[in-house]
Amino acid sequence: MPPGFVPALRGRFLVFDGPDGSGKSTQFHRLCDHARIAGLEVCEVREPGGTHIGEQIRRLLLDPSVKEDVDVKAEMLLFMASRAQLLAQRIRPALARGELVLADRFISSTLAYQGTAGGMRAEDILAVGRVALGDTWPDLTVVFDVDAETSAARLRPLLRGREFNAAKDRIESRSADYHRRVRAGYLDQAHARPDNHLVLDASRDADTVYANLLHGLQQKMTALKPQG
Ligand code: TYD
Repeated sequence: MPPGFVPALRGRFLVFDGPDGSGKSTQFHRLCDHARIAGLEVCEVREPGGTHIGEQIRRLLLDPSVKEDVDVKAEMLLFMASRAQLLAQRIRPALARGELVLADRFISSTLAYQGTAGGMRAEDILAVGRVALGDTWPDLTVVFDVDAETSAARLRPLLRGREFNAAKDRIESRSADYHRRVRAGYLDQAHARPDNHLVLDASRDADTVYANLLHGLQQKMTALKPQG
C-alpha cells in the first residue's frame, strides 16, 4: 500500500459488496490485513451480524425454515435492525476514533436482494435506511461484479460440504433469474452514483482483482471530499 494513501483511509467507511460467490470476502480479508500492516487501525464488520443482537438476527435470517416463510418487508426490516445496532455499537464509535471501517455487505445488499431482486421499491428501503443510518453512510461501496453463471460455478464445490448446508438451501432455493437481478441491482446502484461506487470485474483471478482494487481505491479515495 503506497504510504501517501494511508492517511486518505483514516476515519473512512468502506463497504465491500456483491453477489454470493463474487469472492468479495477473500478480498475483504486481504485488504484488512494489508491496511493493518500499513499502520491503520481497522474496524472490520460483517452483515448481517457483528454485534450480539445482530448475530441473533443473522441466525434467524439465514435459517432455511425462516427463509422460506419470511415476508420480504419483514426480512428487509430485520437486516436494517441488525444494521442500526451495528452502526450504534461498532461503526460510529470506530469512525469517531479515526479508524478505517471496512464492512462486508451493507445497505447496498438490501437494495440489491430485497429491492431489485425481491421486488421492494428502492425509495422504501432508503426511507428505512435513513432511519437506521442517520448521517453515517459509506464513503465508498466496492462492488465485486460477477455474472450468475460464474458465481454458481464458484459456489458449487463449497456447497457440497456438509457445513455449508444452510447456505446451500438458501442459495439453491433461488432461481438463476433471482441471482441475475441481484447483480443488476448492484450495477444500477453504481450507475446511479458513480462517485460513491467502485465496480470491479470479479471474474478475474484473485491477484488481479486485488491489484485493481488497490488501484481503484487510490483513485476514488483521493477524490473524496476532505472530512470534517
Ligand atoms: P452470508 O453467509 O454472510 O454470505 P456472504 O458470505 O455471501 O456475505 O449470507 C448473507 C446473505 O444474506 C447473502 O445471501 C446476502 C443476503 N443479504 C440480504 O439478502 N440482504 C441484506 O441486506 C444483507 C446484508 C444480506
